[in-house]
Amino acid sequence: MNAVVIGASGFLGAHVYQRLHDQGAHVHGTCGHHHRPGLQAIDLLDTRDMARYLNSLRPDVVIWCAKRTHENGDEQALNETGLCNLVRSVPDATRLIFVSTDGVLPGTGGPHGEQVRPSPFSSDSSIARYTNGKLWAERWLQSDSPLARTTTIVRTGMIYGRAVSGEWDARTAAVLKAFASGETFSRADNLLRTFVYVDELASALCELATIDCIRGIVHAGPEHGESHFSFARAIARAWSLPMHLVRPHQIPPEDVTEREVRLDTRLNTSFLRSKLATQFHSVDERFTLLARQA
Ligand SMILES: NC(=O)c1ccc[n+]([C@@H]2O[C@H](COP(=O)([O-])OP(=O)(O)OC[C@H]3O[C@@H](n4cnc5c(N)ncnc54)[C@H](OP(=O)(O)O)[C@@H]3O)[C@@H](O)[C@H]2O)c1
Repeated sequence: MNAVVIGASGFLGAHVYQRLHDQGAHVHGTCGHHHRPGLQAIDLLDTRDMARYLNSLRPDVVIWCAKRTHENGDEQALNETGLCNLVRSVPDATRLIFVSTDGVLPGTGGPHGEQVRPSPFSSDSSIARYTNGKLWAERWLQSDSPLARTTTIVRTGMIYGRAVSGEWDARTAAVLKAFASGETFSRADNLLRTFVYVDELASALCELATIDCIRGIVHAGPEHGESHFSFARAIARAWSLPMHLVRPHQIPPEDVTEREVRLDTRLNTSFLRSKLATQFHSVDERFTLLARQA
């Protein structure tokens, strides 16, 4: 298999790249500003750069793990320029696996199955622009893209775990830091998400790259979702940290309407779990395993 990982210097992309490499695949990867040995520095917003790179590789499968890299980065431009140019620069039979987000789903009534209609944000907040950029890409990939018939869109929730460099993701690191401070802190009990362990998601993407029969939109992650509060408690349980330090709070209804907070974007992941050998552990199980290994 000749595979290309776009965004191989990122949190998820680095795991996917590493895993494909360890499996003996012929794998190439791109980076942007964070140069890493073995990766090709490509500006996804530069159409000639990308076309030159892909024309020379003619990959069987491309896994898109890129996203805008800072709060105010333009996800729409990344997809309109980078993704569209990528699709036009590879042969028509190329498989494309595009990583999207649970954020495109409505904020009530989770866990959401793949058939649930996505819903764009109406505001101009940073998260709205990111999510709308992803939704634009999902729609383009399913309709106008020349690769519409060979594309799998993988929606996932909050990705957590250690980066290939060993550092925790920012969310977990913040919870560990808060426990270490010895002060009480709070996490929202009514903000429900599917939390996905980075290495398990990478495993699922690598598996999808080798099987040729799953197309369209799929939801990836463990069976049960969590609140941000229960996520913090799982960390405390696994490492025997003082659980009483974390308190629940509720996101108030006015934030839901005024700031367009989507309270419940949990994913129904039963379809993909029934198709793949990759196992998605619950947050409790995963942190307990990690604490034992430490
Ligand atoms: N993290 C989450 O909780 C989460 C949740 C749901 C979905 N997702 C999706 O999962 C995927 C992976 O997310 P992640 O958290 O691993 O992302 P990340 O760590 O922020 O990595 C983003 C990657 O995109 C590259 N990139 C961005 N703009 C670029 C440009 N103009 N030119 C070249 N490269 C560019 C970055 O390269 P450099 O860093 O080298 O510049 C990096 O490799 C994304 O598609 C994201 O939308 C993530």
